Amino acid sequence: MTFRKIMLPLVLHLIFSNAYSQEKGATTIGIIPKPNYIELQEGFFLLNKNFEIKYESDFEIAANFIKKFISQGISMDMSSKKPKRPISFIKDSTIQNQEAYKLIINPKEITIKASTGKGAFYATQSLRQLFPSDFENGTFRKKKLNLPCLMIEDAPQFSYRGMHLDVGRHMFSIKFIKRYIDFLAMLKMNTFHWHLTEDQGWRIEIKKYPKLNEISSLRKETLIGHYSDKPHKFDGKTYGGFYSQQNMLDVVQYANDRFITVIPEIEMPGHSQAVLAAYPELGCSGEPVEVATKWGVFEDIYCTKEQTFDFLEDVLDEVLDIFPSEYIHIGGDEAPKTRWKSCLDCQKRIADEGLKDEHELQNYFISRIERYLNSKERQIIGWDEILEGGLAPNATVMSWRGTAGAIEAARQKHNVIMTPTSYCYFDYYQSKDENEPLAIGGYLPLEKVYIFNPIPEELTKEESKYVLGAQGNVWTEYMASEKQVEYMVFPRILAMSEVVWSKTNTKDYQNFLERLKNFNSRLDALKINYSKKLN
Ligand code: ACM
Ligand code: ZN
Repeated sequence: MTFRKIMLPLVLHLIFSNAYSQEKGATTIGIIPKPNYIELQEGFFLLNKNFEIKYESDFEIAANFIKKFISQGISMDMSSKKPKRPISFIKDSTIQNQEAYKLIINPKEITIKASTGKGAFYATQSLRQLFPSDFENGTFRKKKLNLPCLMIEDAPQFSYRGMHLDVGRHMFSIKFIKRYIDFLAMLKMNTFHWHLTEDQGWRIEIKKYPKLNEISSLRKETLIGHYSDKPHKFDGKTYGGFYSQQNMLDVVQYANDRFITVIPEIEMPGHSQAVLAAYPELGCSGEPVEVATKWGVFEDIYCTKEQTFDFLEDVLDEVLDIFPSEYIHIGGDEAPKTRWKSCLDCQKRIADEGLKDEHELQNYFISRIERYLNSKERQIIGWDEILEGGLAPNATVMSWRGTAGAIEAARQKHNVIMTPTSYCYFDYYQSKDENEPLAIGGYLPLEKVYIFNPIPEELTKEESKYVLGAQGNVWTEYMASEKQVEYMVFPRILAMSEVVWSKTNTKDYQNFLERLKNFNSRLDALKINYSKKLN
């Protein structure tokens, strides 16, 4: 058999057989994120009702995924005695990267090889993208289709491939959270960073502190328009809610079934005004405050008295029972030291612990929480402010204020996750079109996300090993609806998936745009409200 070898980057136009002439004769292999290696071969695998799925138990999730996906377009004929063309999952322990896979399509069978269920699942996400998009929403009517013969060998560039979602400023249904997880799974991302607590709302049920749910989860009204529009105007409507522990356990299971880890974020010591509205005794002044109704950085933060640590340990105990992730995100960003400076308890803490100043007090705070979580066999992630006043011994740093924090942390041999605002903040405008929906500011077009290299060029090869990966952040001050979240996330998440999965040195924006054109029909089928403006 002759075959053509085609190295990436590539967009392949394949002539479909007559049976598929409705497709106007051509399709494109446009898998996103781009696989490392694709070799296109001659011929097709005919997929009709005479197929079967064969797998070992390690591959049950992947096998069930593809079975269900195919059933949205073609029903397997269980009764037919005709020989069936197999889709086989085979364990191949020689594949070292646990997230890697091989996908081989020849006229007789489709074979997926991986050393773990995770690799096999990613193979099915690539296979899925070889199907017409009407499989996505059950509108495929043709009863059979030709899949091109090929061989794909693929593995991720980075081990941490994440998306974040802030549910404090605006909250979204569990149905939507699962949809968001489905988006991540489709793009071979493996981490959902769930930002659960904010000044404007506490969203996680904590049984020991019911006022978190009765008081901290509700704000009396919300700012209308942009923060910079003065005077501030408010909508006068109570806003809020929280996720029950059962809801969150359900999400964790849903994510786990898609090889996605949910990392909860419980913010401290800042962004905690909603807690202080319910439990003012945890602040320095003890004075009542309200759940914040506008955006920003607030001075009322947790006091460093013992009572705060008792509270946080209790809260974390319940968090750990819901979220089995190795990492727990403890925030650490944007904590003004104003209250600590004039608080007797905090000043006594500084003196008793021999600390130099309030920055070292923040280090004390974070390190103490880290010790607690380490004692429960968990690790902390914190925003890059946790570098100020010294880094807690085992902390992973999420670098958002540029890359300086990442560089410093990696040089101190700490793991790093890259989320610099200029490449990773999907709350920034993606277009200069004057009709763009209101956003926080900034300008982050698709191409800029695409060209992001998570490894800061200042790092040596050795230091760059501490960079685990990157993440898109979705702060929702200006995203009141699920549709608006989708609009801000798509298509930039597609570019981010390629930043974290595909080989950095094979990136080609024009090639990505070609594949994106093809991918848009999939987004349409999934009814995703994506932006069509590229700059
Ligand atoms: C952040 O954007 N405050 C981490
Ligand atoms: Zn205090």
